[in-house]
Amino acid sequence: MSELTSNLHVCIAGTGSYVPERILTNAELAKMVDTSEEWILTRTGIRERRIATADETTSQMATHAARRALEHAALAAADLELIIVATITPDTPTPATACYIQQNLGASRAVAFDISAACSGFLYAMKIAKRLISSGAFKNAIIIGAEKLSSVTNWEDRSTCVLFGDGAGAAVLRIAEPGEGAILATEMGTDGSLIHLLKIPGGGTACPITASNVNDHLFTLNMLGREVFKHAVNRMKEAAEKVIARAGLCAEDIACIIPHQANRRIIDAIADRLAVPNERVFINLHKYGNTSAAAIAIALDEANRSGAFKRGEHIVLVVFGAGLTWAAAAIRW
Ligand code: UT7
Repeated sequence: MSELTSNLHVCIAGTGSYVPERILTNAELAKMVDTSEEWILTRTGIRERRIATADETTSQMATHAARRALEHAALAAADLELIIVATITPDTPTPATACYIQQNLGASRAVAFDISAACSGFLYAMKIAKRLISSGAFKNAIIIGAEKLSSVTNWEDRSTCVLFGDGAGAAVLRIAEPGEGAILATEMGTDGSLIHLLKIPGGGTACPITASNVNDHLFTLNMLGREVFKHAVNRMKEAAEKVIARAGLCAEDIACIIPHQANRRIIDAIADRLAVPNERVFINLHKYGNTSAAAIAIALDEANRSGAFKRGEHIVLVVFGAGLTWAAAAIRW
């Protein structure tokens, strides 16, 4: 049975995002590590990224984004039934960051929990929320991608510190009325045999923080960038093709494709392989760098509010991240 014929249709009723004020430029990074503005821009497409203040938490950024999405969807926090937060930088190991956000929003009726799927988390959350709503278990949900990657970045490692940034994005999902848009098809995938390509090795049960290892850079993001790049292109292309086909569409039907914002060269390679022209590809990577689970959520909100697509048009979201994980969604707006 296709997802469209199962029970209720689910639409995206509103989006919101938030990024911290502080801008960290490539020029500043060139003074911190052995790199250059030119290398960062040509190898990644990133010009600057946002960095949260020391006391600004993931849940605070997420709450700002969530309030904007709820307002956009004209949904009161008191009527919210489900909060799913995708993050690899939770406020605390437990309770879930979603619980802090529930409290901040005053969404006392909402069930709230986190998921961990790295950069793919926002679209994993979309599929979970869509299924929970279309089954009739919940009437609405907010899904949030939020990260404070600056807190897990090794600022002495030039191969990673130039890539990441902080921010949050959110979307409100609810049962669609007749004639409204719908999430038409979703896809998720995981390949645990490639765990070693991108990870934070320490801080969990495999390698707890101790007094003797605290300065060993075990609690920051480690990545084999070139390998990740190769898998990212292949997996995102396949996932996008699957949801486009499952939604009964072809490349010409896509008004806007919103890919994970990790590297401009990855985005260009995917657009090329999917035969989607550059003007239909949404990019904000140059402003924010890679914000993991927040990246596609912020991009969706900015694309939506800037009129990159209109009601009734089709869009495709596609992501890739540590795990390795990947996911895609085809949506009629
Ligand atoms: O969000 C999760 C998914 N993540 C991704 O999708 C990231 C995927 N990977 C990438 O975006 C790219 O692999 C990077 C941007 C991380 C790296 O670009 P690359 O073209 O793959 O570079 P590389 O790692 O092959 O390194 C090329 C050279 C090396 O020097 P040698 O060995 O050729 O002499 C690096 O040491 O560039 C050097 N390098 C740098 N040079 C100046 C690495 N980082 C830097 C730097 N500045 N910041």
